[in-house]
Amino acid sequence: MPNFRTIEDLDVRGKRVLLRADLNVPVRDGVITDATRIERLAPTIEALIEKGAKVVVMSHFGRPKGKPDPALSLRPLIASLEKAIGGRKVAFSADCIGETAQRAVVQLQPGQVALLENLRFHAGEEANSPQFARALAELGDVYVDDAFSAAHRAHASIEALAHLLPAAAGKLMEAELEALTAALEGPARPVLGLIGGAKVSTKLDLLRFMIGKVGLLAIGGAMANTLLLAEGREVGRSLCERDMAETARQILSLAPQRNCRIILPEDAVVANTLAAGAEAQEVAIDAVPRDMMILDIGERTIARIGAALAEARTLVWNGPLGAFETPPFDHGTTMVARKIGELTRAGSLLSVAGGGDTVAALAAAGVTEELSYVSTAGGAFLEWLEGRELPGVAALTAAAE
Ligand code: 3PG
Ligand code: MG
Repeated sequence: MPNFRTIEDLDVRGKRVLLRADLNVPVRDGVITDATRIERLAPTIEALIEKGAKVVVMSHFGRPKGKPDPALSLRPLIASLEKAIGGRKVAFSADCIGETAQRAVVQLQPGQVALLENLRFHAGEEANSPQFARALAELGDVYVDDAFSAAHRAHASIEALAHLLPAAAGKLMEAELEALTAALEGPARPVLGLIGGAKVSTKLDLLRFMIGKVGLLAIGGAMANTLLLAEGREVGRSLCERDMAETARQILSLAPQRNCRIILPEDAVVANTLAAGAEAQEVAIDAVPRDMMILDIGERTIARIGAALAEARTLVWNGPLGAFETPPFDHGTTMVARKIGELTRAGSLLSVAGGGDTVAALAAAGVTEELSYVSTAGGAFLEWLEGRELPGVAALTAAAE
């Protein structure tokens, strides 16, 4: 576990706490489609209120490229944030630094909350500019980082700022780091890694790192097609990366050297088109018709992964196992998700999952609450599974030394 301070270690009474949150929630037509990140931030704000702090929340939202963009204002999130903290009022500052921000912060009484406008409206944020970090630091007495899902960005509000003020991790940051550490550093064994998604090429480092960490690695999704192809199998018209065959072979040969067993699909659900309700059939993996596409794992593979799960004590999951957004090709992912929920509930499995698609698949299967831990992070979760040091975590660790 990285060593860092928590809000329990800070004296925040009457002080201005600059709280880095990740309010980068999905929005469609002006409506928040998933408020999980806001809800998971709320306990930190409430704890700070309880301690009599003046809470100044800051976040990025979207990718405005260093210039103000009204479409990416954080203002529309106020109602949702207020709801998440029990209806308490949240003041707003139309700029995250300078006089406007100073005015909003000066008006705060202990126990009150303000939200600053999108940090990425200033180019200094993504540039990790010391000057921009100093402008932010003027607004606070202490710094709390609760944005694990943005910890892979060395941006000013995450990296430079952590060195300017007494710094600590918020409760969500703490929970994320605890869960990921429990799953990958000294976990209960056997450990099963379950990796899916479309491409091997985007998950090379992740596969290499996981092979060194887990005893068993089950791979599904279109990335499994590339590995099957590398083993000399016919995958028909399936999505796969033909130019990655050599790299895929190297990855497969790394596994026995690191005492990791790889589970690839034994059978598949195939169809002519990727369309809802498309006519599908189940075939053995060595009998994929030339004119068809693999779109999901088959029943035998579901059972094989189920058996591996039943033996495992720890699971780390990233990536759906089939084209889960298009039924009936969600079946494999859903069945595996349910099995994970069941085993976790029964107390035999510690299960940790993360990544945007995985979280959506868990929600669709209705088992989010049953897992031991579901991360709010996408990119940061992936980088953690690549064994990389996250700048946001490193900054908190340095601040604790
Ligand atoms: C995310 O949603 O993954 C984080 O908020 C980081 O956003 P970014 O990919 O735009 O840096
Ligand atoms: Mg992202």
